[in-house]
Amino acid sequence: MVRINLGIGRTDSMKKRGERTKRHLNLKNDEANHITLLGKSGYGKTTIMRGMVEEIYSSYSDAGIPPIIIVIERKVDTSKPKKVIEIFHEETEKSTEKHIYRKYGDGIWNYIEHYVKELEKDKDLRYGLMGDFAIGFPNILGKYTKAGMDEYKTLLGRHGLSPAAYPARRFVFRPRRDIEDIAFDNGPLTEVISSKLAYPDMPFEIIADMNNLGEQSRYSAILKNIWDISKIRDPKEVLMIAEGSENPNSGPSQTYLRIEETMNRLKTDLLFTGDLENSFLTKLTNKKINILDFSQNSELETYEECLIFKLVVQNAINVAIKYRIPVFFVVDEVQNFMKDKNGKWAIDKILREGRSLCINLICATQYTDNLPKDILTGSSHIGIMGKLASNTDTKTLEKLIPDFKDVVDFDEPGSLSEYENLKKKLRFRGYFSYNKDYTEHIEYRQPQSL
Ligand SMILES: Nc1ncnc2c1ncn2[C@@H]1O[C@H](COP(=O)(O)OP(=O)(O)OP(=O)(O)O)[C@@H](O)[C@H]1O
Ligand SMILES: [Mg+2]
Repeated sequence: MVRINLGIGRTDSMKKRGERTKRHLNLKNDEANHITLLGKSGYGKTTIMRGMVEEIYSSYSDAGIPPIIIVIERKVDTSKPKKVIEIFHEETEKSTEKHIYRKYGDGIWNYIEHYVKELEKDKDLRYGLMGDFAIGFPNILGKYTKAGMDEYKTLLGRHGLSPAAYPARRFVFRPRRDIEDIAFDNGPLTEVISSKLAYPDMPFEIIADMNNLGEQSRYSAILKNIWDISKIRDPKEVLMIAEGSENPNSGPSQTYLRIEETMNRLKTDLLFTGDLENSFLTKLTNKKINILDFSQNSELETYEECLIFKLVVQNAINVAIKYRIPVFFVVDEVQNFMKDKNGKWAIDKILREGRSLCINLICATQYTDNLPKDILTGSSHIGIMGKLASNTDTKTLEKLIPDFKDVVDFDEPGSLSEYENLKKKLRFRGYFSYNKDYTEHIEYRQPQSL
């Protein structure tokens, strides 16, 4: 069992002073610990997930079982670099260097200064797209921002934490901007890899999906035979074999042409490589936090993202069986995967088989009308950030969590200013239901990275 810090709960009179309010979550090593985070946009779901990733990374590593953490990132957040620039100027204007160094640490501050200077020189707009999971960038925002209710402490200070960067390996597919620029935006401990899928990693169904191959067609049957049954996963060789069964006395058949088209696509598309050693799957690591960059940095269609996700889940299952390493999938905006058959397959697979293999799902959604019930039913723990999106969501959760009605109550604002105050008060706070059995109010642990 590994304990992670969840945040601050309400005072518990049964506990000794000092340990009164800290809340931990016990993660089991021999079963799945799926967590779902719910809440409306802007209340901090992504921010808090980042905090959980940090906890999992350090607690498991401290326990001597470094896990494979795979984060699926959906968005870049342009407001973060803007806030970093703002804070830099405000601090340098109002405080002495000595004071700033003491507050943020000199290494961190010198880095921030360098980052801000580069951004301000940047006329070609190369920078400024920081990922939602800039896990390699120290969170100076959390050290600067006052914690809503507590005027004397900052968001991070309230949890006894300070800004820190965590090592990250970021996988970008068909990169839309320079790899170096993406690395620069995501902090000094971020390594960016231009990632490719290797032909040998890809089962025929993936090739068929990517190329819209008709299921019943002759070319599909021939290709499946060569690719999956003979396991010849090399476009050149495939073409030679297909050519071999052509009639030498007539022009190329439709079947051949369609196979040729498919193989050419594989050869020219930057997403693929013939070199198994270059496959991004071999670069997933338990020494760093893996981030699959499905933000604007990668030029991917939704169905391709889902296919990659499926491949990674299949790969993770093999790794989990072979090496008995715990695996954590951190999936933001999980609803995006539920509409696609491969995406749904991947989520279902983790939910169902995760238990026996210790493959865990931590996901978040701001679902408005209908919560994905499979995910909620399969989750061990459910967290709510700020408010729920609708009454229907409340009803669903009341059915699922017996003590939900008694514990959770959301004030409805009576005016616009009340609403604004409430939003401030509720950001990064909410409820956590342990094993869907015990629910309580919680101020979630802030992330040390941005
Ligand atoms: N330490 C911080 N101090 C102040 N603001 C912060 C801090 N960390 C994050 N933010 C900001 O808080 C806002 C909400 O955070 P976050 O992106 O986590 O919300 P979310 O629930 O994931 O929203 P969405 O559903 O839109 O993705 C963001 O605009 C982010 O820039
Ligand atoms: Mg988010």
